[in-house]
Amino acid sequence: MKKQLVQLISQEEIAVTVNRLAKELDRDYENRSLLLVGILKGSFIFLADLVRKINTTICNIEFISISSYGASTVTSGQATIIMGLPKEKVMGQDVIVVEDIVDTGITTATVLNYLKNYDPASLRLCTLLNKPARRQIPVTIDYLGFTVPDCFIVGYGIDFNQEYRQLPAIYALEE
Ligand code: IMP
Ligand code: MG
Repeated sequence: MKKQLVQLISQEEIAVTVNRLAKELDRDYENRSLLLVGILKGSFIFLADLVRKINTTICNIEFISISSYGASTVTSGQATIIMGLPKEKVMGQDVIVVEDIVDTGITTATVLNYLKNYDPASLRLCTLLNKPARRQIPVTIDYLGFTVPDCFIVGYGIDFNQEYRQLPAIYALEE
C-alpha cells in the first residue's frame, strides 16, 4: 500500500524553534566561539538554518558521517564512523554536535564518544528532534527542538531511503 505523509510540525513551528535554539546557544556561549559538527546527511537543512540565526562566532563547521539504516526503517543496532575529523580540529574547541533526530541514541552516543576522545574544551548535543520511545543508550540532549512520537519521520533533511529530505515541514510516514 502507498505510504501516507501526515504533517507533525509545520515550517512556521520549525522556524520558531530554530530561532529559540540559536538564542539558547548565544546565551550559553557568549564571548566564545563554536565548532559545529553536523551528522550527515540528515542534519544538513537544520544546521544550515541554525547557523543563520546564531550570533555567536562560529569558528568552524564540520561534518561527520556515520552508518545509517539503509533502506530499512529499523536500526541495525550498530554505528560506524565512515568519515571522521582530524583531532587538531576538535582539540580545545567548544563543540556542538548537530543532529536531526535522536532515536535509539546509538548514533549520537557514538559521535559524542568519538569527539570526547579528541579533548574538546566542551562538548554538547543539539538535536532538532527526540524520539525517546525507542532509546537504547541514554544520551544527554543539551539543546532540543521537539519531542516526537514513535513513528517514522521524514522531511526537513530527514529521509526514508534517501527520499523526502526536500520537504520543508516534518511528517510521519505512515502505511
Ligand atoms: P539512532 O542511532 O537510532 O539514535 O538514530 C539516529 C539516526 O537514525 C538519525 O541520525 C536519523 O538519521 C536516523 N533516524 C532515526 N529515526 C528516524 C526517523 O524516524 N526517520 C528517519 N531517520 C531516522
Ligand atoms: Mg542521521
